[in-house]
Formats: sequence, C-alpha cells, structure tokens
Amino acid sequence: MRSLRTGSALASLVTGLALLGTAPAAHAADTPLRDLADAKGKVIGTAVTGSKLTGTYGDIAGGQFNALTPGNAMKWGSVEPVRGTFDWAEADRIVDFAEAHGQQVRGHTLVWHSQNPNWLTNGNWTPAQLRQLMTDHIATEVGRYKGRVATWDVVNEPFNEDGTYRQTLWYNGLGTDYIAQALTAARAADPSAKLYINDYNVEGINAKSTALYNLVRSLKERGVPIDGVGLQAHLILGQVPSTLQQNIQRFADLGLDVAITELDIRMRTPSDSARLAQQAAEYRQVVNACVAVSRCHGVTVWGFTDSDSWIPETFPGEGAATPYDENYAPKPAYYAIAEALGGTTTPPTGACTATYSVVNQWNTGFTGQVRIACEGASLSSWRVNWSYGAGQRISQAWNADCTQSGTAVRCAHASYNGTVPDGGSVTFGFNASWSGSNPVPTVTLDREI
Ligand code: XIL
Repeated sequence: MRSLRTGSALASLVTGLALLGTAPAAHAADTPLRDLADAKGKVIGTAVTGSKLTGTYGDIAGGQFNALTPGNAMKWGSVEPVRGTFDWAEADRIVDFAEAHGQQVRGHTLVWHSQNPNWLTNGNWTPAQLRQLMTDHIATEVGRYKGRVATWDVVNEPFNEDGTYRQTLWYNGLGTDYIAQALTAARAADPSAKLYINDYNVEGINAKSTALYNLVRSLKERGVPIDGVGLQAHLILGQVPSTLQQNIQRFADLGLDVAITELDIRMRTPSDSARLAQQAAEYRQVVNACVAVSRCHGVTVWGFTDSDSWIPETFPGEGAATPYDENYAPKPAYYAIAEALGGTTTPPTGACTATYSVVNQWNTGFTGQVRIACEGASLSSWRVNWSYGAGQRISQAWNADCTQSGTAVRCAHASYNGTVPDGGSVTFGFNASWSGSNPVPTVTLDREI
C-alpha cells in the first residue's frame, strides 16, 4: 500500500504515470481503491477479460478492486456454445483469480436476450422445453460456482425504454413469469447468493426504472427471491441523471440492495483535458450517490482501462470511458473515484512532477528513468520514492543515489543535480531486474520546505 507523508516536514509532490509516457496527473491517490471501499463497506469492482489477467492488467485488477465481474465469460453463449458441451475455462480463471486476490465475484448473467448460443436462439421450443432449458442452465451455472459467486445478475435487461417488457426468447415463450421462475431456480441452486435484476437506462427516475421498481416491488410482495437491482450505468458525458441518488433510495426503501454494475462514461474521441475533467466530476457524482445510500452495495466499472472497453466498437467515434487510459495510466476519473470513496489525494504543491518510465526492457532486465520537471515552481533538493510490487530490483543508478530495501526504493539527488529550476528538468536512470511482470509503480516526489 502506498502512503504519503503529509504531516511531516516534507511536502509530497506526486505524479500519475504512464508506461513510456510523460503525462503526469496532478496528484495520486494515497491508497488503492479497494482499501478505501473496504473501509466504507462498499464494493469497487471491475469487469474483466480472463485472458488478460496477467502483467499490468492483472496487477491493477487485483490491486485496485475488491470485486470482479466477468465481462463475457459467464454468458450462456460463452459457457455452452454447443448444447451439452461446456466451456468454463475463462469463467474459472476469473473466479480463481478473484479468490487468490480476496475479491468477490459478480456472476453475469444467466437469463438475457443477447449473447446466447445459436442452438438456443434458433431452436423451436415449446414453453415447457424453454422453461426446462432455462432452469437447467441456472442450476448448472449457479451450482458450479455455489459459494464462490457472491451475487448473480439473474435476469438482464428485461425492459424496453417505455417500461413495457422486452420481447425476448424468454418473454415470448414464457410470459412475464420467466423472471420469477429464473430467480426461484437461482435461489435453489445457491441459497446464499444475492440475486439481482440488472438493466440499463434505469439510473434516473423514468418510465423504465419505474417499471423495474414496480416489478421488484411485486416480486417481493409475492415472496419471489429478489435481493437487489443493478443499474448498469453506461452513461454519456454530460448526461448523468440528476435523480440518480433519489432513484437508488427508492429501491433501497423497498428493502432491496442496489448496485451500480457496469459504470462507464463515454465521450467523443479523442478526449481532451476538459472532457476528462468533466468525466472525473461525473464519476465522482455516481460514486457519491452510491456512498450516500447505505443499501447501495457498490460500484463496478465496465472495464477499468480504455484498452479493454466495449465502447469504441459498440459506439463508433466514442470511447475514453473508463478510469485508466489505454496505457494503464490513471485518469482524472480514477482520482475522483478515490476521493468519493474517502481517499485523500495530495494536491500538487507548486508544479514539480516526477514521471517514471521504462525506456528499454529485455527478458530479465530493464532500464528505467525518472524525469523531474518543474513549471511555476522550483526545487533545491529532491527525493523520489516508490515501491516495486512485482519483485523488481535496482542494480545500478546514475544521476541519483538510489537504495532499495525490500520493495521500497528511494532515490535522492546527486551532489550536482539537486536544483531543478522553474521551467527546467532533471533526469536520472537505473538498471533493474524483473520477472513475470513489470508494472509501473506510483512515484512520490518529496522536497524540503
Ligand atoms: C458487453 C461486453 O462488454 C462486450 O465485450 C460484448 O461484445 C457485448 O457485451 N450490458 C451488459 C453487458 O449487460 O453484458 C454488455 O457487455 C454491455 C451492456
């Protein structure tokens, strides 16, 4: 865990970092998002792709989030592409990873109109056959992960925008009662899992969210097992509904949990700093709304990095929707989430920043550099600290005096380069070893004041 010594005689000047990049953010979070969320009793989750859970992607997924949702791996089309032939490899990998990292899993999703296998979609089923297929599927999948998946999105996207039921395979074959049947089957398969209905465009108070509200109220009245509602929150920059918190609260008042299950905030690409700042404010607004309602279970982002987001291919010309950029550098939205979860980020004191980058990497070693640059401020001495999370070890440094103790690295200015003038910069370099992965650490820059 990283922490900044804010109360000492040192002012901490902090940067966000990009691998091979030089764009520092204004400030860095002191504590991983998952620790902040844990302290508030909330979930901060991310959707993930199982095959990517190594290297920097795996380090961030495991280090920053306390819950994972398989982005696609648990959908019917993924797990049973051919009738009776199951492929659990990616789903298993995600559940194993989550357990190894002390994370909850949100199972997504059991009964949906999309991403179903062709054999199911193209079949000519009687209502009795369809019902059996649905309940068998639920028994198989929920049963497989019994005790390991905390929460299921049992039914996904049952409504049209006007609040009428969506005409799907399930609705057309079984009527509205498919929803109660699915929930009942899920409860039977894992009595301790929390069961949700999940939809999009139900974040604010509108016809669709009111239809969902009326449905879950009546399910509860009938004694059908329902624990919560998922608000997907695939939002557009500038369009966070003003009634979000009020809407969360009305579901909570029914005695249900609420989760923000698929948050992203998309914009026209390329992004620019003004839009990223607005996006940060809107992420903050969404997380704040969840933090404000005790029955709001938490917030899951639909992919944590712009390099693993569904937006660019689904909404051509739009993107930049997640809290990390394509090179895994945290964006302003990341810091906004941290602050909304109660984290303190250290505002920049003056405008000196340190930027860490890997300039060359081979199979066992790499050359790194840190550039300290000042704009509107200056330094007469400096020290840069970071912590290596993946076993990297520095063997040699130049233009700084570096020591490593365990994972902690400290590099102090040499006799000749403590001064960084306003508008100037100083760079030092080092060689180090790595194996497995070589994630970019968060660096703190200290100066005497
Ligand atoms: C998306 C995935 O992220 C994409 O990779 C896939 O191609 C399509 O589905 N609502 C949902 C999610 O409930 O399952 C969808 O996920 C996004 C919209």
